[in-house]
Amino acid sequence: MDDPAREICLCFHVSLGKLVRFYERHHPTVASRFSECHGAGQGCGWCVPYLEKLFEQLQAGKAPEIGMDYEEYRARRIQYHKTRKPDLPPPPDADGPLDLDLENVLNEVPDDLKLD
Ligand code: FES
Repeated sequence: MDDPAREICLCFHVSLGKLVRFYERHHPTVASRFSECHGAGQGCGWCVPYLEKLFEQLQAGKAPEIGMDYEEYRARRIQYHKTRKPDLPPPPDADGPLDLDLENVLNEVPDDLKLD
């Protein structure tokens, strides 16, 4: 099985582990019910074929495998956005992995909104 922490739906950050647990608890009869798992597949639509593949694998009692590493998966999604969803804003990681400076982000939060 691929890493359970690996995100399958990048729009809604739904991991493989969450999808497998959803499947085991709810026994969906169609792949589209994965949308009830934190909205998987309800954003850009990129992950829908992979949700269907995952569903078929789980139905067959097989270990879930996406068939490509995470970087390739992410890169293909960026290409999908450019060619199939040009009206959508590009994914936040379209220019490479996000590199957040959390200290700077926290400094931009107004003092009255900061938690103790
Ligand atoms: S990656 Fe799942 S809907 Fe966009």
